[in-house]
Amino acid sequence: MRISVIGCGYLGAVHAACMAKLGHEVVGIDVDARKISDLSAAKAPFYEPGLEALLEDVQETGRLTFTTDMSAAAGSDVHFICVGTPQKKGENGADMTYVDAATVGLLPHLAAGNLVVGKSTVPVGTAARLASLISEHQPDAHLVWNPEFLREGHAVDDTLHPDRFVYGVSDGSEEHVAVAVLDEVYASPLASGTPRLVTDLPTAELVKTAANSFLATKISFINAMAELCEAAGADVTRLADAIGMDDRIGRKFLHAGIGFGGGCLPKDIRAFMARAGELGADQALTFLREVDAINMRRRTRVVELTRELCGDGLLGKRITVLGAAFKPESDDVRDSPALSIAAQLQLQGAVVTVTDPKALGNAARRFPELQYVQDVETALQNADIVLLLTEWQEYRELDPHVLARTVAAPRILDGRNVLDPAKWRAAGWLYRGLGRP
Ligand code: UGA
Repeated sequence: MRISVIGCGYLGAVHAACMAKLGHEVVGIDVDARKISDLSAAKAPFYEPGLEALLEDVQETGRLTFTTDMSAAAGSDVHFICVGTPQKKGENGADMTYVDAATVGLLPHLAAGNLVVGKSTVPVGTAARLASLISEHQPDAHLVWNPEFLREGHAVDDTLHPDRFVYGVSDGSEEHVAVAVLDEVYASPLASGTPRLVTDLPTAELVKTAANSFLATKISFINAMAELCEAAGADVTRLADAIGMDDRIGRKFLHAGIGFGGGCLPKDIRAFMARAGELGADQALTFLREVDAINMRRRTRVVELTRELCGDGLLGKRITVLGAAFKPESDDVRDSPALSIAAQLQLQGAVVTVTDPKALGNAARRFPELQYVQDVETALQNADIVLLLTEWQEYRELDPHVLARTVAAPRILDGRNVLDPAKWRAAGWLYRGLGRP
């Protein structure tokens, strides 16, 4: 099929490459000329494992092109809207500027029978609004809401082998003409058993925000338990192991630590609360305010604990922060808890050095006042305390014996609870986890 993908960020670039991999002829469109020139040269504009190899692979077939020219969408059967919906400045709601601009820009290029497929995370009600805009211009085009559930760091695999497809169509019916078209787009993953659900438009929009809210709630639940474990002298990692064995609960997303960040969970729960308020259902989501508050408290807690571990205040203390990205296998620093903690420590007088395998460029643009060192050994030299804040594999594998000779004082705060406390203590370190005795 001929497909256009509008918006080539974390979602769209991966989606475009994966659709070409599935055998379709794809054009990726974005207003950012630098992104387009990178992608045209099979270079990923951000770090995502497997993306660059995939871009090279599919560009050789000639099925994938990129452009800044929206008119290139003309002639495609299916148009995916993959632009961002960031948090509005100074407000909780989502900024719909990019989704609206992408849709309006697409209108002159729509032909009868075309499908416009929304993948961006949007406030419920957006699809109905866009559907009427589209039908005014091209009454024979259809809007589908097809939320995306990919995780950064696993985006290629999640797109090629998703755990489900959700198609929101205007009448919520399997017989809707758009269902067969999308089935053709996703023929290969559907053939290998990926389930798909057909719903009405608002349900499809809500599936996405509900899923992210549930995940955020699960993380904040275990972080609230971590607070309690600290007060009671218990171990939250063992608690999570034990409750996670109940398969109604499950162990996934029960990793207590410095909390969630990134370009999705934090802004999505806030936009969800804002939208519920507009719909007069704000009471239904007031618990998300608490989820957000528990999450933000983790960051303050780490600053307090660091001060405690340093003994005589933060002023002039040399602190090395391992990890800047909001999670491993990503260079994304949007609302990264690691960077937020690093910046707070710096503001309180510490001398903070940050290292990360992939995210230092983005981190330096976000917080230029921090010191960045690429090499881990160098970053750790003469540290008064080490904070592990993003659990990259190479940090999990650090040797406490070797490290003890590099730092000024062997003190470590394990913000992700991924190190073996016994091993580090045996090597002479003062070890602190979060929610662990
Ligand atoms: C999240 C969802 O997991 C995806 O399903 C969704 O498609 C995506 O948002 C989106 O809306 O686009 P992502 O932001 O890539 O994906 O990252 P997650 O793996 O969900 O991690 C989010 C944050 O939670 C990270 O900062 C991570 O370190 C933290 N986390 C995760 C925990 O603190 N504890 C856990 O147990 C799990």
